[in-house]
Order: sequence, then C-alpha cells, then structure tokens
Amino acid sequence: MNDFSAPITDVPVVDVLSAEKIFANGFRGLAPIDLSIQRGAFVSLIGPSGCGKSTLLKLIANLIEPSDGRVQWWRGDFSKVGQAGRQLAFVFQDPTLMPWARVENNVRLPLDFAGVDKAAARTRVEAALEQVELTQAARRYPRQLSGGMRMRVSIARALVTDPDLLLMDEPFGALDEFTRNRLDEDLARLSWERGLTSVFVTHSIYEAVFLSSHIIVMAAAPGRVFAEFSVDEPRPRGEEFRASARFAALCRDLSALLSDASFASRG
Ligand SMILES: Nc1ncnc2c1ncn2[C@@H]1O[C@H](COP(=O)(O)OP(=O)(O)OP(=O)(O)O)[C@@H](O)[C@H]1O
Ligand SMILES: [Mg+2]
Repeated sequence: MNDFSAPITDVPVVDVLSAEKIFANGFRGLAPIDLSIQRGAFVSLIGPSGCGKSTLLKLIANLIEPSDGRVQWWRGDFSKVGQAGRQLAFVFQDPTLMPWARVENNVRLPLDFAGVDKAAARTRVEAALEQVELTQAARRYPRQLSGGMRMRVSIARALVTDPDLLLMDEPFGALDEFTRNRLDEDLARLSWERGLTSVFVTHSIYEAVFLSSHIIVMAAAPGRVFAEFSVDEPRPRGEEFRASARFAALCRDLSALLSDASFASRG
C-alpha cells in the first residue's frame, strides 16, 4: 500500500523511532527518542538549556541525521516528502532576513526557489503578509522594522510555502512579553485556521501551555524525553484562556515537571 494515498487523518506526520544523536566529537546529544506527531497537533519542546531541543527539531527538519534509529515523515522517507507535494518550513530564533531586500522579496524567496511564476507568487506573498498583519510594511527593508515585525516577516516567509509541517526554534525568545503574547495569539489562530502541524521550541512555560496540544518536557545528560503533557483545552485559544484558573493550574503543573527535569539533568 502506498502510505501517501492513505486517509490523511490516519497518518502521523512525524514519527521519531528510537532516534539517537552522537555528535562527531563523541558527545551524546540525544539518547534514543520515540515520538509520534499527529496531524494538526501543536507540539512544544521545553527543557533546560542544552537538553537537545534544537537537536531534536533539526532531526525532525532533516537538517541533521540520527546516528541510530530513524525519523519518518508521513510514514515514509524524507525523499518522498517533496514527491508527495508536502512542505516543511523552518522558523529560526534569529529571523535571518536578507537585509538588502524589501519585506515582500524576503517573503517571496522560497517561491523564487521553487520556480513559482510571478503572478501566483505575488498573490501568495500578499496573502501571507496579510495573515501576519504586515501588508503596510511590504515595501520596507528589514532594518526599518522592529524585532517583532521581523519575526512576523520570517513567519510569513514560512507560511507562503503553505507548509504541512511548521518547525519553530524559540521564534519569540528575544521579544518582550507583551509582543510575544500577541504573536502567540496570531500563531494560535493561524495554526488552527490552516490545520497546521507544528513543533515549537520554547523556554516559556506560559507560551507552551497557551499554544500546545502536547508538551514534551526534555531533560539533559543525555538529552531525552522526560515527560509528555497534554493540554486538553479547545483551540483556538485567546486571552480568556490565558486569564483562566485552568491556565494557571496547567502552568503550575508544567513548572513542577520542568523543575524535576532540571534536577534529573544534573547527570
Ligand atoms: N554539532 C555539535 N557537536 C557537538 N555537540 C553539540 C553539537 N550541537 C549541539 N551540541 C551539544 O548538544 C547539546 C544539545 O544542544 P541543543 O542545541 O540541541 O540544546 P538546546 O536544548 O536547544 O539548548 P538551548 O535551550 O540552550 O537552545 C548541548 O550540550 C550542545 O552543546
Ligand atoms: Mg536550542
């Protein structure tokens, strides 16, 4: 049976199957990890600095290869992802925009790479900029934007490819809490509207609880999954959820788990 023809709802988007990472210098970055990410899930990775969150995200992005075990995408190899017309998009902590190019050209970059024709590309760039509320800034240069706006450009550049899987590594880490909360709300709405499957690295307990359907708490020495935590709260979520007693209780529970994970990371 060809997996890609199976009903999409029955196929996990990512399976991490006993994937392990030992770096070239012999350092064991990740002990074997098993993880399955379902379509539409919003999964956050949280854990002490150096526990392997970015390493795991890079494995899922196929930016690095596991030393042992494997990762599957839609139950197939990475080479089949593109053949099946699926898209992965990655948002780094640092927005990495081209300083010499206007916002609209930065966002259009992946479409230029993919050879999308000009008229179609323009429509898609406009739609992506509208989704992150940057229509007015389309003709500005990155240096003329605030940090939060630059991050929204970076998200628009990921969304413009219409990804099935969106991977984000601490995208809002450098922003003030107010801006971060607003971007979290935008991201919650966008991922819900688009039925995105997302993996999101963060150090913020509040952000993880607000956004996620599932939270993976990691520990270090060696990098591993310490606990998994579901947030069974309807989505999309808004300011009411953040102000609720349930939100506070979930944050407390996650904080306790993180504290245990930090303790367990002392090796
Ligand atoms: N290429 C590499 N070679 C050797 N060690 C590495 C390499 N990349 C990462 N590491 C080590 O692997 C561990 C996990 O790194 P990683 O960047 O995944 O952590 P992290 O959880 O994302 O941390 P942070 O929260 O600080 O971003 C760290 O101890 C790091 O020093
Ligand atoms: Mg990291």
